[in-house]
Amino acid sequence: MKSPTALVTGVTGQDGSYLAELLLDKGYEVHGMVRRSSTETFERIAHLKDRIQLHLGDLLDQASLVTLLRDVQPTELYNLAAQSFVPTSWVQPSLTGEFTALGVTRMLDAVRLVDPEIRFYQASSSEMFGRVQEKPQSETTPFYPRSPYAVAKLYGHWITVNYRESYGLFAVSGILFNHESPRRGREFVTRKISESVARIKLGLQDELSLGNLDARRDWGYAPEYVDAMWRMLQLADPTDFVIGTGVQHSVEDFVNAAFATVELDPQDFMRVDKSLIRPAEVDTLQANVEKAERELGWRAATQFTDLVEIMVHADLEAQERSSRRRVGGPGTR
Ligand code: NAP
Ligand code: GDD
Repeated sequence: MKSPTALVTGVTGQDGSYLAELLLDKGYEVHGMVRRSSTETFERIAHLKDRIQLHLGDLLDQASLVTLLRDVQPTELYNLAAQSFVPTSWVQPSLTGEFTALGVTRMLDAVRLVDPEIRFYQASSSEMFGRVQEKPQSETTPFYPRSPYAVAKLYGHWITVNYRESYGLFAVSGILFNHESPRRGREFVTRKISESVARIKLGLQDELSLGNLDARRDWGYAPEYVDAMWRMLQLADPTDFVIGTGVQHSVEDFVNAAFATVELDPQDFMRVDKSLIRPAEVDTLQANVEKAERELGWRAATQFTDLVEIMVHADLEAQERSSRRRVGGPGTR
């Protein structure tokens, strides 16, 4: 029998790379959509390159999506591609809307036209809760987006629900709270902290500049979250889920835990940079994961301090590796 076939958009990103690993382990034939760029962005999937098949496609280009689905004939489609960095969405609001909002409609239309039996996962976000209307946030909490990114994600969420209801597609929206890992993009706060702390410990950097230290997030470990995505597509009926740990911490907590990992005092290195404060902030996010626990049998396993340690240790190793390639190598504070 032919193995199940999955297509992952955003396969070069944090989640795409972990999802590709998970699907390969489960015996899937795995295909990834990548967009053309003058330099390759395949660092996170370099170790998988002989086991997955990559295809050119872009969320901005409807024809490329239709052709891709015809060529790959997936049974499952995970739509993870997006402009995913919140601050950029104020600088490029229209482009963010094209990728992160209308890109979802283009993908759903491709499914509808090529094969309505394809099971579709949409990467929705806890950012949609924004100025939270209820604590903690569940699948029934009203939305209040606070950035062009969150507004675009909310469109992507509702168009997924709408195509499910209009055309009977097996389309689900996973409302995922922040999830992190050593593969997290360097501009996101957790990775910025873990990488900076590693560099400070090794004497390669003097200070860490951050914006709002009071923001609170529900941070989990990314490899566990891609398992929740897969579980959603195995259900008998399509329905949406909130995925998170149920526990929240502040940015300052993350800073303190990261410096504690390398036995340094944050007060000696921390600086607040007001230019990093956002035009509209999401102050607090915390997931109510009852539905996921009940219906998916999914629960976050990695605790906050373990996550911080995993990230700081990975960045220490990465910095030491690249320093060894430089003459002299780093010192240690
Ligand atoms: P990420 O690391 O920023 O990866 C984004 C991916 O999207 C990259 O592979 C990128 O390709 C691709 N992409 C961007 N624009 C594209 C376009 N026009 N056409 C094709 N591909 C495009 O994001 P992530 O953290 O893995 O997150 C995955 C998804 O989940 C995103 O949709 C994000 O918004 C959403 N989400 C993430 C979190 C989280 O905490 N990580 C939480 C909730 C929701 P390049 O490599 O070419 O740039
Ligand atoms: N990036 C960044 N850089 N954030 C900072 C900084 C800084 O120097 N200083 C403070 N912060 C605060 C931000 O103001 C925000 O409140 C919080 O740290 C988290 O910021 P990010 O790590 O950039 O993530 P995010 O919460 O805005 O968005 C991420 O999670 C969403 C899910 O809730 C992204 O992965 C989104 O794509 C995702 O949808």
